[in-house]
Amino acid sequence: MYRDRTCGELRLDNAGEHVKLAGWVQRSRKMGGMTFVDLRDRYGITQIVFNQEINPELCEAANGLGREFVVQVTGRVEERTSKNHNIPTGDIEIYADGLTVLNKSDIPPFTIEDNTDGGDDLRMKYRYLDLRRPCVRRNLELRHRMAFEIRRYLDSKGFLEIETPILVKSTPEGARDFVVPSRMNPGEFYALPQSPQLFKQLLMVSGYDRYFQIAKCFRDEDLRADRQPEFTQIDCEMSFVDQEDVIEMFEGLVKHIFKYVKGIDFSDSFPRMTWNDAMRLYGSDKPDIRFGMPFVELTEMVKGKGFAVMDDAELTVGIVAPGCATYTRKQIDQLTDFVKRPQIGAKGLVWVKIEADGSVKSSVGKFFSEDELRDWAGKMEARPGDLMLIMSGEAMKTRKQLCELRLEMGERLGLRDKNNFAPLWVIDFPLFEWDEETQRYYAMHHPFTSPNPEDIPLLHTDTGKVRATAYDIVVNGTELGGGSIRIHDAALQDTMFELLGFTQEKAMEQFGFLMNAFKYGAPPHGGLALGFDRFVSILAGLDTIRDVIAFPKNNSGRDVMNESPSVIDQAQLDELCLKVEMSDKEN
Ligand code: AMO
Repeated sequence: MYRDRTCGELRLDNAGEHVKLAGWVQRSRKMGGMTFVDLRDRYGITQIVFNQEINPELCEAANGLGREFVVQVTGRVEERTSKNHNIPTGDIEIYADGLTVLNKSDIPPFTIEDNTDGGDDLRMKYRYLDLRRPCVRRNLELRHRMAFEIRRYLDSKGFLEIETPILVKSTPEGARDFVVPSRMNPGEFYALPQSPQLFKQLLMVSGYDRYFQIAKCFRDEDLRADRQPEFTQIDCEMSFVDQEDVIEMFEGLVKHIFKYVKGIDFSDSFPRMTWNDAMRLYGSDKPDIRFGMPFVELTEMVKGKGFAVMDDAELTVGIVAPGCATYTRKQIDQLTDFVKRPQIGAKGLVWVKIEADGSVKSSVGKFFSEDELRDWAGKMEARPGDLMLIMSGEAMKTRKQLCELRLEMGERLGLRDKNNFAPLWVIDFPLFEWDEETQRYYAMHHPFTSPNPEDIPLLHTDTGKVRATAYDIVVNGTELGGGSIRIHDAALQDTMFELLGFTQEKAMEQFGFLMNAFKYGAPPHGGLALGFDRFVSILAGLDTIRDVIAFPKNNSGRDVMNESPSVIDQAQLDELCLKVEMSDKEN
């Protein structure tokens, strides 16, 4: 046996016991005739003491230990005279009587502790060392705990975990596919699944009425803090259900996780908001409802006073930042610069202060009287001491820009507390979204999403207005998951393909296997998928999902540790009958 105890478990009660530990040298320090070594493993840190007087040879060996050496130590547990209240083992130390170096280590490129001196790139290059840091380890422990509880909940509800293929057929809708060439079928490619969507629907046809899978998904899209090219979904599907059944089941799952992993009980049902309201009130389909500051529209009441920005605007809309009338010129300029950043792209920001004494100051005093500005304040329910922030322009764009500003104000005012969780269902999404560039409709969710039955008559007459039976679950402004009730009627599916601009032949070519399956008794079905990485990072209070993935990619989609993607040998290319030709751009 290499060890009979871990570095995290010994307490005062163990004093007097003889133990054997193994782990990594966190650090060692010499003080007088003593050498202290902090020994670390997955479970914690234990202090080991080597005494020059009692065992000079052993102490000499301990003095030769470098950081991250792997060692085995035997010794007796003793009460510490000066206790360390920062660690659970801080009441004891081990008086060593044996030391074996199991392996040496080069000096690590950064310190292996929560407060490391290693920058992002370095830590990613040496991710296996980064993973030794307790804060990173805790994230993976949380991930494991959550996966375990997810399986426990879904198993208790009769769900079967079924694996689906990773080499699948490329389909054009959605994000870009990662493709894999086939050696045995030269010139042909598999795609990696963007999600197991079609397979889970096929499983419903096969009668597996409650399916789930903690599934790897792959999407070749631009990366952000909450997007990785390969990520994990808690993918689920159910038969003989309507929207209400699905929402109830997975609200139950989310509550179960909060309760058993985080100790938080949500007794009430999660609130619901229609997509229309979410866009109107928060300018986003994933509103952060930890705080208020809803949008108030002023479009009509601000027109006709000679202020061209508002006169010409499709939408003028504002928020009230409570207590911010004290903002200085500089602070307001910062907000203006914030909305003018290229990522947000606004032209400007109008502000109106209702001072504590009730007087009004604004950036548009030239165009509007104090009484008019007070009318705005009335409409926006701004009180003395508040700051109104107003933007004008094309409706959708302006909403999105003000959404960013609202989130920024929430951040500045400390209203986005990471320990406060505000889940929300967003429902009644539009079925289609129009794309100006290609002049066609795209499915907002995917082509198998069922229209709201009430809106079926509008399919051909007012296509853009048709609501989907689709729902997203949002937590703290992050889209945690989404799903829909699917179309199981062949004629309705045909209509859907037709509206999406697919010919019969094209639809058959792409989705023929699903359409054929649907000829053999497809039950009514629906489901959803939760982003597992996002779920873990929300519970861990992190800003990026990278921190909850053992071996993540960077923002350019690269794994800087193993240096992938990489070029492959000519022999490999030949075998696949592939020729690489770089365009000037790539060169
Ligand atoms: P959707 O595309 O909305 O739905 O994805 C479901 C959830 O997966 C997570 N997610 C991601 N997480 C990390 N990195 C990414 N690149 C990424 N893309 C998506 C999000 C998202 O809410 N098949 C449907 C689900 C269904 O209809 O049942 C689907 O994939 O948290």
